[in-house]
Amino acid sequence: MTTTQVSGQFDAFGEAYQHWERLRSPIVYRRLVALAPGPWGRVLYVGCGAGSVAFLLAERASDVIGVDLSPGLLSLAEDRRRRECVGNVTFENVAFANADAASLPFRAGAFDLIFSYGVFHHLDADRVLPQVGRLLVVGGRGIVFDYVTSDPRLNASPLWQIIQAFKSAPGYWRRYGWRAAWRIVAFRVSGRWLRHVCQDHFLTAEQFRETFRTHFHRCHFERYGGLMAAVGERLADKAVLA
Ligand SMILES: C[S@@+](CC[C@H](N)C(=O)[O-])C[C@H]1O[C@@H](n2cnc3c(N)ncnc32)[C@H](O)[C@@H]1O
Repeated sequence: MTTTQVSGQFDAFGEAYQHWERLRSPIVYRRLVALAPGPWGRVLYVGCGAGSVAFLLAERASDVIGVDLSPGLLSLAEDRRRRECVGNVTFENVAFANADAASLPFRAGAFDLIFSYGVFHHLDADRVLPQVGRLLVVGGRGIVFDYVTSDPRLNASPLWQIIQAFKSAPGYWRRYGWRAAWRIVAFRVSGRWLRHVCQDHFLTAEQFRETFRTHFHRCHFERYGGLMAAVGERLADKAVLA
């Protein structure tokens, strides 16, 4: 998929996507904190979507910049900031920008933590990882979460995706209640989501590890079912996941 197609699809998902993202964001955040407790200084959130995790990151960071291709999701993030700026909560340390992860407009060494969730399967990781790594200060940490697959052919099957959505339903129900569970499953089995997700190119767990080891040294990985995290830091002349 081209970047225009990706951003067009996420624009069209709009609030249905934001709802799902927002519900899962505390879990994403807890996992991130377990991997790197912080406080973090300047944080770059690559592929921030509608910004849900960015607002949580702001609790432990001096500044958070979320970048994403989708103007539609970014405008939902800005709406949320306006709605939730009340009293002492201003989110002044959170900013959003429309930018492509493959050509980010920041100077080398600008960030202490770079975080990403569910984005690298949209990217040419071999091209993007070295560029993103250079944005870290020496000693800064990179944490990348992405979905992996046991068989990329299964992921391209709408029927398999529908079965996965229904298999996830009891977990959504337990965590978020039945109304939210129903809304997420309805989105996951909708034609617009299936057309998107069946075109995604997820790596296998081994490919995920290899890709990161190619660009970063001493990689450390965590597995959460179908999700993996790579954690590390930038050393003197190259980004190193450790
Ligand atoms: C599966 S969503 C994940 C969103 C968010 N991180 C979350 O927690 O739900 C993937 C996001 O990556 C963004 N994205 C895809 N390709 C991108 C690129 N080249 N540069 C920046 N963002 C990109 C999409 O617009 C979308 O918001």
